[in-house]
Amino acid sequence: MKSASALIVGTGSALPSKVITNQDLEKIVDTSDEWITQRTGIKERRIVAPGESNSGLAVKASRLALERAQIAPEELDLIIVATLTPDYLMPSVAVLVQKELGAHKAGAFDLSATCSGFIYALTIADKFIRTDPQLKILVIGSEVLSNKVNWQDRTTCVLFGDGAGAVVVTGSKEPNRGFISGHLYADGNLWHLLTLKGCGSLYPPCGDHLPPEEYYIRMQGREVFKNAVRAMEAVALEALQTNGLTPEDVDLLVPHQANMRIIEHLRERLALPLEKVYVNLQKYGNTSAASIPIALDEAVTTGKLRPGDLVLMIAFGGGFTWASALIRW
Ligand code: UT7
Repeated sequence: MKSASALIVGTGSALPSKVITNQDLEKIVDTSDEWITQRTGIKERRIVAPGESNSGLAVKASRLALERAQIAPEELDLIIVATLTPDYLMPSVAVLVQKELGAHKAGAFDLSATCSGFIYALTIADKFIRTDPQLKILVIGSEVLSNKVNWQDRTTCVLFGDGAGAVVVTGSKEPNRGFISGHLYADGNLWHLLTLKGCGSLYPPCGDHLPPEEYYIRMQGREVFKNAVRAMEAVALEALQTNGLTPEDVDLLVPHQANMRIIEHLRERLALPLEKVYVNLQKYGNTSAASIPIALDEAVTTGKLRPGDLVLMIAFGGGFTWASALIRW
């Protein structure tokens, strides 16, 4: 590595305490634990209770990450929150986190790249660090999808959950550790396959321009699935090939947690053993931009991720967007 790259020096995560099981969903829509488990791998998900919020979860996850990094909020230079479900359209989640933490020196902004948002944000943080390795940046993925899900639509409501994950990055002092590469992609031609149209400026909440279901997440699941498999496999291989590495070099694959069948396909294509792929979607469902930082935090706290490990993260989401990040932990 020529210039100092971003090293993750602390991780944290926060999940709401309310659990919705597949059995709970059987009482709400025409579905079954068997269908959800077989088609997705999800068994339960967490959702916010009154008083809990996207920014509240983000703050909790950030406090843990800062504590573990032994960095005070006042030392932060920048806060980036990847989210598609901010508390408000204005202000951003990032400024609410900045205020709550007392990170008075930090600039703060939200980033919208759906489920790939955390990798986009981490890649941007690495670019800042490469220009000034002293910088200390808080990168968060945080979502409250339960308020954007149509609880009468069985094709989507069984999939999503709420949660937040955060990492603190600064310039690596060791030449062989830190961010290696980020590859970011998008294809706006396919935007219509996964949408949340209502409540933006084109279709404001009080208008009656749209049918009510358009004020919730809508997805053509099978098409999204096919594109996700193809794009995630390609971006994973590209990340390795660009750096002269092979799947065998990977210590831990941390994929976006959307569907166990997608993850299993990737695992097979990369010929990785089960223990080298981090999976927690059975507990949390798809938490969009939060899924990778939550998984990273769990992998660290359970000892699955250790200094020096080669970590490959890959994500895919609405837009479409997809991305990879390769890190020597
Ligand atoms: O995070 C962003 C990226 N998102 C993803 O990567 C998600 C990608 N897509 C998927 O994970 C899958 O496509 C789903 C899990 C959403 C759906 O699984 P699928 O195997 O593609 O099912 P399908 O949409 O083709 O539906 C198969 C059948 C349909 O019934 P018919 O038409 O065959 O009679 C659906 O109506 O399953 C039915 N179905 C359900 N049945 C019970 C759909 N949802 C449910 C449900 N419970 N919750």
